[in-house]
Amino acid sequence: MNSCAESLTMPRSVLATTSQLKVSGLAKRFDGCSQSVFSDVNFTISTGQSVALIGANGAGKSTLLRCCARLIEPDAGSIILDGEALSSKSGSELRKARNRVGFVFQKHCLVPRLSALTNVLHGNLAHRSGPRNWLQGFARQEDRGRAMDCLNQVGMAHVADKRCDQLSGGQAQRVAIARALMQDPKMLFADEPTASLDPQSGDDIMELFSSLVKVRGLTLFFVSHHIEHALNYSDRILGLQERQLLLDTPSQSESLPSLRAFYA
Ligand SMILES: Nc1ncnc2c1ncn2[C@@H]1O[C@H](COP(=O)(O)OP(=O)(O)OP(=O)(O)O)[C@@H](O)[C@H]1O
Ligand SMILES: [Mg+2]
Repeated sequence: MNSCAESLTMPRSVLATTSQLKVSGLAKRFDGCSQSVFSDVNFTISTGQSVALIGANGAGKSTLLRCCARLIEPDAGSIILDGEALSSKSGSELRKARNRVGFVFQKHCLVPRLSALTNVLHGNLAHRSGPRNWLQGFARQEDRGRAMDCLNQVGMAHVADKRCDQLSGGQAQRVAIARALMQDPKMLFADEPTASLDPQSGDDIMELFSSLVKVRGLTLFFVSHHIEHALNYSDRILGLQERQLLLDTPSQSESLPSLRAFYA
């Protein structure tokens, strides 16, 4: 990981030629439920794209996001992540492939009593297990340096030693993003990352995602109920409705009224 933003800037036209995530025929029904959450979901996300997923409460957005990384096991379908068939992997191979995705959730899921730096270091557990990644005091200098670099990239180097239960919601979400960056992911999945934040902090977090997509060439797949965020911070918008992916459209061709109508 490199803190030098300039050296990591990549032309989006080049990045957008390869697919980062290709999902075909994805279906999920939870045990004991008569209806599927969704079926026959097909879409591709190109490298360096930012894609928003919208839909009403209970439409299946979180389930779909998790199924794409097999955090929830889909019933059918194929998932190609970064050129590898995630759907046919198991055990350590699956974990290794899945580590290419960093997750950010509505609730930041940081360990409250530990420092921001230690929480970021935990992102390294995706690659190296063991106590040296449990606490920053035990960490290899190189890993501590990388964790500081990740905090720096989200503008949070100054809270490195602060306990996470002493951070504001916006600061904590930035630290959670730094922890995801510590994994050195190719792709970020974010499930309502701004839902717990005030409007300004929410916009700031979306700006941060947007700059990570542009500067680091990351691919972003995010769920949002905030349709301005879906419009302003994505290249494409997917929409789940009636157990199907009924919307897959360039963001430019949508508007606030057209997206509001999707919920009607
Ligand atoms: N573990 C589970 N077992 C059974 N049903 C589940 C489970 N998880 C989710 N569901 C159901 O699957 C459907 C989709 O849920 P999901 O959480 O994916 O929706 P969502 O679009 O993310 O909603 P929200 O906008 O409220 O976050 C809902 O009907 C929900 O009740
Ligand atoms: Mg959800």
